Amino acid sequence: MIKASAPGKVHLIGEHSVVYGEPAIIAAIGKRIWVEAEKHPTKIVIRDRILSVKAEWMVNECIDVAMQAKAMWMHGFDEENFSKLFRFIKEGRNFKKVAIGLILHRLNINEGANLNVYGDVPNGSGLGSSSALAVALTKAISELYEKELTNDEINKIGLDIEKMMHGTPSGGDNSASTFGGLIWFQKDERGRPRIESLKQEIPFELENFVLTYIKKPANSTGELVSMVRNLDPTIREPRVKAIGQAAIDMRKALREKDFARVKQLINLTWSNLSELGLSIPEADVVIKKIGDIGGAAKLCGACGGGIMLAYHEDKKALKKVIRDAGYSPFETELGAEGARIEKPQV
Ligand code: PMV
Repeated sequence: MIKASAPGKVHLIGEHSVVYGEPAIIAAIGKRIWVEAEKHPTKIVIRDRILSVKAEWMVNECIDVAMQAKAMWMHGFDEENFSKLFRFIKEGRNFKKVAIGLILHRLNINEGANLNVYGDVPNGSGLGSSSALAVALTKAISELYEKELTNDEINKIGLDIEKMMHGTPSGGDNSASTFGGLIWFQKDERGRPRIESLKQEIPFELENFVLTYIKKPANSTGELVSMVRNLDPTIREPRVKAIGQAAIDMRKALREKDFARVKQLINLTWSNLSELGLSIPEADVVIKKIGDIGGAAKLCGACGGGIMLAYHEDKKALKKVIRDAGYSPFETELGAEGARIEKPQV
């Protein structure tokens, strides 16, 4: 039996603007998705303990559905409208089937697998659960069939799967999940990813960051990314640029351990994300309370709910404000290991 895992991620800064070629700083987090895999001659038998579902598909069926999704993606790309694909994935509950079909097709595998999926990355919350699942599945299935993929190859398949879920993802989530650590991520003009590890530059532990789950977002990442894309460019572009510049400034502030500046930059980013229509009233209330005690906070990932990232030098005071507002703060490692094969337990 093979067991692989991949971490979720959190954007310290740069969500949404990263889709338009601006840089982002993304940390792999201490929450992961695990996939146990064993060979099966003809079928994919998947037990998803996160969603408490079990399914069985023939290998061909998975590949057919993946090809259908791919065709819908291409059509969506031409039409600049992925709603048909999103309906196919969401309403058809087809994400895992499509993901596995894409992996089998890319790796030229005609056999199946028994897959057992579990983990602690909350779903649809801005912590990159779909990327973690895509990367962990790729790592497990490729290892099971001895395909010896490099991280770059795993990351490419992870991005292909993310496209089915999100239309035009930046590639930042799957990169953080594949490579792990704290990364600087940017797409070049041709859409190719530039991934830099910030380990040398920012070798210390990032303390005093606290996460909190606010509320299930009403829309998926793909829908929120499309919503921003459909805004008038005169509204979108200056805010995207401002967040991009804030990411550049954040890299310097983190390197210099200038946390007063880090807070300013989180606040600045949040006002820009809010102006793009990505806030919700519940987040506004708690973010204001954090600001009142001298901290800073923003929603993460696609926003519109989900996870909030907050910073204050006085972590105790920060947690108290969050708790008093009715939420449960938690901490997790920022800069966790990327995709890996788990050693068998002896
Ligand atoms: O909500 P998540 O965890 O899927 O993060 C999405 C991040 C975005 O920047 C909004 C989209 C992207 O592809 O980078």
